[in-house]
Amino acid sequence: MDDKKKIEAPVREEFNRFMEDFKHSLQSETRHLQSAIDFILDAKGKHIRPLLVLLTAKACGRVTDDTINSAVLLELLHTATLIHDDVIDETKQRRGVPSLNAIYDNRVSVLVGDYILSTSLMRSTLTGDLRIVKIISELGRDLSEGEIQQLETAEETILDEACYLGVIRKKTATLLSACTEIGAISAGASDELLTLCREFGVQVGYCFQIRDDIFDYFEDSKIGKPTGNDIREGKITLPLLYALRTADQSVAQRFIDIIQAKDFTSENIHSLIHFAKENGGIAYAERCMQVYHAKALEILMHIPESEARNSLKLLADYIVNRQK
Ligand code: IPE
Ligand code: IPE
Ligand code: MG
Ligand code: MG
Ligand code: MG
Repeated sequence: MDDKKKIEAPVREEFNRFMEDFKHSLQSETRHLQSAIDFILDAKGKHIRPLLVLLTAKACGRVTDDTINSAVLLELLHTATLIHDDVIDETKQRRGVPSLNAIYDNRVSVLVGDYILSTSLMRSTLTGDLRIVKIISELGRDLSEGEIQQLETAEETILDEACYLGVIRKKTATLLSACTEIGAISAGASDELLTLCREFGVQVGYCFQIRDDIFDYFEDSKIGKPTGNDIREGKITLPLLYALRTADQSVAQRFIDIIQAKDFTSENIHSLIHFAKENGGIAYAERCMQVYHAKALEILMHIPESEARNSLKLLADYIVNRQK
């Protein structure tokens, strides 16, 4: 928590403005919808995306009204994707409490997700900047494409690292890079600075999803969502991909057979997790994450020195080292 305070420091006042605005960004006269909205707003996330927007803008000059609008719209869009994600992944817990689909059902969740997504798109028009509207529209397509590619990869049991990286780029890194790119645009950054910010977002985006995927191999109530879920859905992430590629092939084949047969009993999931850990899968994923982290920091060095830039570094560190 101390880390978060330090990260927020250069944009403390702006972050408070964001929070106020975000809290009031969703309102409906439909009782059912409003109670779902209240429930969602009660469970707080880590606000990594708005922090990326605000800090990038500050590092590029200053936080403007467009920056605040963008921080709100990107947190809304993120919220919508989580609601849809829990339907797709059939997950019943989020942020330490039941997910929306657990309380209501899939029908309500899909519609509430759509409502929030549309609210986010409306916000993008408030900026009056067509570049922002374009990034958000493309982002929506990328996120869906990433999710569909992930389903396809699971369905066809594609055990390929390049394919995995392609999926996480689309389903996660594009959102973080949209945050840093829009942050820069909202501050009136030069094209050169804008490109650097976008690329920084891509690199921390990879770190973010690799860390999230590692969480799935451990049981820890701090994480606030069920683990072991990716494998159950046939989503084979970096630690396991590495183990399958590098372990003794006769042993690995046994596990490949289980995955191909989609025989994901609790016992098999447990064995797959154990196999990944025994064969250095977690350490490998951590090393990959460090490579992306190092690239992110290298890019940051080309952005003018400031307190906000330092916080972007701390935020990149937090994304890699976080416990939830
Ligand atoms: C979780 O995102 C979803 C992924 C992209 C892996 P966060 O961990 O940032 O979610 P909150 O908003 O902090 O709950
Ligand atoms: C989420 O990936 C990526 C999104 C675009 C929402 P996950 O499915 O791994 O996210 P969690 O673990 O449920 O938060
Ligand atoms: Mg999920
Ligand atoms: Mg998912
Ligand atoms: Mg996950």
